[in-house]
Amino acid sequence: MGVFYITTPIYYPNAPPHLGHAYTTVYADVLARYHRLIGDDTFFLTGTDEHGLKLQRVAESKGVHPKKFVDEMAEVYKYYWSMLDISYDRFIRTTDEDHEEVVRRAIMDLYKKGLIYRAKYSGLYCVDCEKFYSEGEYEVIDGKPHCPIHKKPLEYLEEDTYYFKLSEFEDYLRRLLSEKDIVYPEQYAREVLGKIEKEGLRDVSIARPKERVWWGIPLPWDEGYTVYVWFDALLNYITGAGYLIDKERFEKYWSSVHHVIGKDILWFHTAIWFSMLKALDIPPPRKLVVHAFVVNRGLKMGKSAGNIIAIEDFVEHYHGSDGARYIIARIFNLHKDVEVSGEQLDTIYNSELVDNYGNLVRRVGVLALRKLNGRVENRGMDGRVEKALSKMLEEYRASMNSYEVSRAIGVVMDFLGEANAYVNQTRPWEKKEPYEELYTLLEAIKYATITLSPVIPRSADKTAKALGFDIVNPFTTSIGSQKEYVVKEAPILFKKIK
Ligand code: MSP
Repeated sequence: MGVFYITTPIYYPNAPPHLGHAYTTVYADVLARYHRLIGDDTFFLTGTDEHGLKLQRVAESKGVHPKKFVDEMAEVYKYYWSMLDISYDRFIRTTDEDHEEVVRRAIMDLYKKGLIYRAKYSGLYCVDCEKFYSEGEYEVIDGKPHCPIHKKPLEYLEEDTYYFKLSEFEDYLRRLLSEKDIVYPEQYAREVLGKIEKEGLRDVSIARPKERVWWGIPLPWDEGYTVYVWFDALLNYITGAGYLIDKERFEKYWSSVHHVIGKDILWFHTAIWFSMLKALDIPPPRKLVVHAFVVNRGLKMGKSAGNIIAIEDFVEHYHGSDGARYIIARIFNLHKDVEVSGEQLDTIYNSELVDNYGNLVRRVGVLALRKLNGRVENRGMDGRVEKALSKMLEEYRASMNSYEVSRAIGVVMDFLGEANAYVNQTRPWEKKEPYEELYTLLEAIKYATITLSPVIPRSADKTAKALGFDIVNPFTTSIGSQKEYVVKEAPILFKKIK
């Protein structure tokens, strides 16, 4: 039995999550469910990033204390994740006591090691990114510096602060990024290396004066400052695994930690996070899985672009959580941005879920009930389908293990296409007792359902109950080993979108 620890970014709860956030979260959930299915000791962490200027300002504009505001918003996030059947093991909040303690201890540790020093800072800041931009990074609009992502004017800041000596980790980072394949897909490691090559690695400010940003964790040695929100947030990943609280548990999960992030926060999760970990004598993550953006009408989906798709609308449109999850997992792309406007997504839903999978379940269920009273004994299985099935399982496993969820689903869909063709070729409705045909098809459906269960857990359960099999590790049961199927009903799983 393996161990699998998976995390999503912790989201800023300044507004409810939209399809862009669901994109990361559903993908991570599919991987978590897959690893539970194959028997791994799995831990899935998500949560909210609650401190900092952005949250302070939103709360102020609403006239409420930030804590009250984030308390409400954390519930909003949980509500949306339950709407999408997200099976997280812990919902971490940066205002959780154990996390605040980890932050204080970690930053004090670095301070004592001489990796933090005080100096002046001046620069241009984007509050939406909670990030400083240097020349060449920002966009100039009407002669003024603007955030390249949010297209809003940057704010000029000048203040005394504390710096983390990021520059000391340049060699370590270069080596890590070029020798160890931590970052997947590799194109993103090259991107970070290119940036380091071009600009070098500069020290980063990791504190904010309290007068300006009071909503944060105070520096343990200087109460006049709060910890920079990103320094605070990144540490959630070690808090979640039990750092400081349970050494054994921490080491177990940390040895297999997989961070899933969008490419917008790549720099923080490589240059800064890997250096912080090194400074704390913690090994780098096992994998950093980076994905591209959801794009709506040509622009990255986001609140400031004004092109968000609400999760509730998406779930309603695809007739529930399974439909929505399927679409998200199927269009998911690590390598390039995906456009979601237009008819394409509905076509995927109709042709794959409704026609290919749903119809096969219905058809085979009906035939089993009509022809054999629902009792389908194993009296042999078609050799060609059996072979296709074991090939499908191998390819599915390889795709899932290399984080290519969409490819894994594609493999199952291709196999279901062959199963449908088998029905048409063998015409079991014309036979008196089509044992072999129906048993073959039920085995096909069983394994397709099990392999799709991390994506469409509700429909998979429904199918399993109706046709009479269990959702179990597909790699430890052998094909053709079920003695009999007792089919109870022929469910209609999905309805077409017109
Ligand atoms: N709070 C930080 C992350 C701290 S992690 C230690 C943050 N939060 S966020 O709310 O802005 O969420 C960013 C993440 O949401 C992205 O990295 C990505 O995973 C997801 N996405 C938000 N919009 C997205 C798209 N339009 N497309 C794909 N993913 C997007 O950054």
